[in-house]
Amino acid sequence: MTLSAALRAGRDRLAETVADSAGLDAEVLLRHVLGIDRTTLFMRLQDPISPDALATYDHLLEARARYISVAYLIGSKEFMGLSFEVGPGVLVPRPETEVLVEWAIAWLRDRTGVTVVDVGAGSGAIALSVATAMPPGWPGRIIAIDISAEAIAIATRNRDRFALQSMVTMIQGSLLSQLREPVDLVLANLPYLRPGQIDRNPQLAAEPRLALDGGEEGLDLIRALLSDAPRVVSDGGVLGLELDPRQRAAVIDLATQAFPGSGITVLPDLAGLDRHVIVQTAQDRDGG
Ligand SMILES: C[S@@+](CC[C@H](N)C(=O)[O-])C[C@H]1O[C@@H](n2cnc3c(N)ncnc32)[C@H](O)[C@@H]1O
Repeated sequence: MTLSAALRAGRDRLAETVADSAGLDAEVLLRHVLGIDRTTLFMRLQDPISPDALATYDHLLEARARYISVAYLIGSKEFMGLSFEVGPGVLVPRPETEVLVEWAIAWLRDRTGVTVVDVGAGSGAIALSVATAMPPGWPGRIIAIDISAEAIAIATRNRDRFALQSMVTMIQGSLLSQLREPVDLVLANLPYLRPGQIDRNPQLAAEPRLALDGGEEGLDLIRALLSDAPRVVSDGGVLGLELDPRQRAAVIDLATQAFPGSGITVLPDLAGLDRHVIVQTAQDRDGG
């Protein structure tokens, strides 16, 4: 069988379940098996595929047809132009989260000596993308927290591969519970889906429930974070939270209860949906 025929067969196999991305997924899986880039694949379309490569490719196609993410099958996902190791223990980073990262990088640009925390770090996508964008010798620190030991292990490998050990500390723990020092910027893409949203979507159901399930209204983790945040967020500190666009009003209410007098901004994602709430806390919260 030629590579061209393998590509067609793969696309047809995937069209039965993941129709929207069948062609691209088959190509990415075939290139992964062969260890070649796109240009090389298209130059070699008439070459035969070896029996071993075909067996591996078939195995990956079967897994993809069962909705396992391509990122898990190839072990990596690009986010903010960086290649992150991912595996079934962490969420595959989503493009909409790049909006929060870009906002955070802009916010940090004129500030020095700040402490940033990424709560629910997963693969480390947010913390490590922000860290990579800081200039050499940047006098701040970034703490990445996740409750999952598997997530912290993957995030730590990503951090070490990007050589960011001196800038980013990894902590396994729940929300802000391990923090005692003041934090200037809290970034959090916590689980915010309702159980039904996950069960109805086989692609989501193939990702860790711990990374997605936010309880009955999807707000359990965001509510708990906001209720503990006043203990650690410095006066004038800022929080950037990712959410389901339908949670916008509820999250603004929770944020205003936790931080009276704060300024709220809502950032749209690439599809124009309200995806992030930025909470600028008051400069002198206790002093009134
Ligand atoms: C939606 S994923 C986000 C992962 C990553 N920040 C990203 O944007 O790709 C949410 C993460 O929160 C973690 N998590 C769930 N409950 C948590 C808790 N109570 N404390 C800290 N992390 C938690 C999950 O393990 C998961 O890695």
